[in-house]
Amino acid sequence: MATSSSQQKPFLYLFSISAAITLAQVPSSQMFTYVHEGEEPFFCWVWDANRGRPVGENTTLTFGTNGNLVLAEADGRVVWSTNTTNKAMVGLRLLSSGNLVLHDSRGWFMWQSFDHPTDTHFADQSLCLSSLTKLMSHKSETENLEGMYSMVLEHRVLTLYMDASTKPLPYGQLLTFTSPANVTLTAEDEGNNAWSVSLMLSTSGGRSLVQPKYNTTNSILRLQIDGNLVVYTYNEQVDSEPTDRTLVYFSDNIRGVSRCELPSKCGSLGMCKDEMCVAYPTPKGLLGWSEDCSPLKLGLCKAGAANAAGYNKVVGVENFLSRFVKGEGPVKVDECKSKCGSDCNCLGFLY
Ligand SMILES: *[C@@H]1O[C@H](CO)[C@@H](O)[C@H](O)[C@H]1NC(C)=O
Ligand SMILES: *[C@@H]1O[C@H](CO)[C@@H](O)[C@H](O)[C@H]1NC(C)=O
Ligand SMILES: *[C@@H]1O[C@H](CO)[C@@H](O)[C@H](O)[C@H]1NC(C)=O
Ligand SMILES: *[C@@H]1O[C@H](CO)[C@@H](O)[C@H](O)[C@H]1NC(C)=O
Repeated sequence: MATSSSQQKPFLYLFSISAAITLAQVPSSQMFTYVHEGEEPFFCWVWDANRGRPVGENTTLTFGTNGNLVLAEADGRVVWSTNTTNKAMVGLRLLSSGNLVLHDSRGWFMWQSFDHPTDTHFADQSLCLSSLTKLMSHKSETENLEGMYSMVLEHRVLTLYMDASTKPLPYGQLLTFTSPANVTLTAEDEGNNAWSVSLMLSTSGGRSLVQPKYNTTNSILRLQIDGNLVVYTYNEQVDSEPTDRTLVYFSDNIRGVSRCELPSKCGSLGMCKDEMCVAYPTPKGLLGWSEDCSPLKLGLCKAGAANAAGYNKVVGVENFLSRFVKGEGPVKVDECKSKCGSDCNCLGFLY
């Protein structure tokens, strides 16, 4: 457990892939006080309790005699709590799996951080249909807020969504299955010096994500700020930079999916081909892509004006929308033009 000195002062982060994970047994009523620390630790943050609700100086985290774990501002205002008052909780433990648990005298978990995932999924952690758990990306490196991307377990599919508008848009399908199931991230020794990290269904089957040649016990799956999905594995045998990116889901490697299918890859309207951002459309036709190209600043929208101004036809566009979103059809191009032209939120359409 550690505190952070970043400007937003998020609180209560846990490490998962540090070599020495502390098994903290905190006696009732013990109180932690928020302190400023000079340096960010080498290992990355993997869980936060109070995302979007940063706390100030002298904040306290208290495990009370009533069994409730409470994060409160210096003035006593409660920012976050486990809601376990009078549930006979006697201990708080950080397990080697990365799970923070509150347990009763028989050792049964009554609350666990695994039921409240943020952007990181640990080995042995499950996404459960019943509790609607999902991963949500962070907004940015500096803002501890929810981002645009989520990984959601649904009845027959594990889906990546981009939430850019009123309706979340799917941009990836990690697993599809025939009957409802929970999904667990597993790290396994497959024998013969082969290891795997997989997404396993509680029914049967699943999907192997990576098979490195070293111990994958300490692995996490993270939904990155840009919507990419990355497996990090901590390799004890290595001294410098022991944390490997064992899988980058949207990438050009064999196991991944084309980088072009990552919505954030080429900005709002950039065109992607063979893993590269190649062009973006303008009224003068296609121009070479650069980091700062962006859609035109539009004037005041008048419904129908787009039809008069005309459309540019861009051939051969690959877009994540055409893979996972069912279009409307059959329709004629002109019908699409007139529909888009009468909607001020419409900037273009795929046909
Ligand atoms: C935090 O606690 C220290 C020591 O008690 C005190 O000097 C300081 O003013 C407190 N800061 C805030 C913002 O309450
Ligand atoms: C505790 O209860 C409050 C109010 O119902 C809720 O907003 C909060 O999310 C709960 N906290 C946890 C950790 O479940
Ligand atoms: C999924 O997990 C929940 C909570 O642990 C459990 O109640 C449910 O039976 C599981 N469903 C399946 C299909 O395994
Ligand atoms: C793999 O790593 C875990 C955690 O460090 C350790 O407990 C386990 O014994 C290792 N397994 C093998 C076969 O080395």
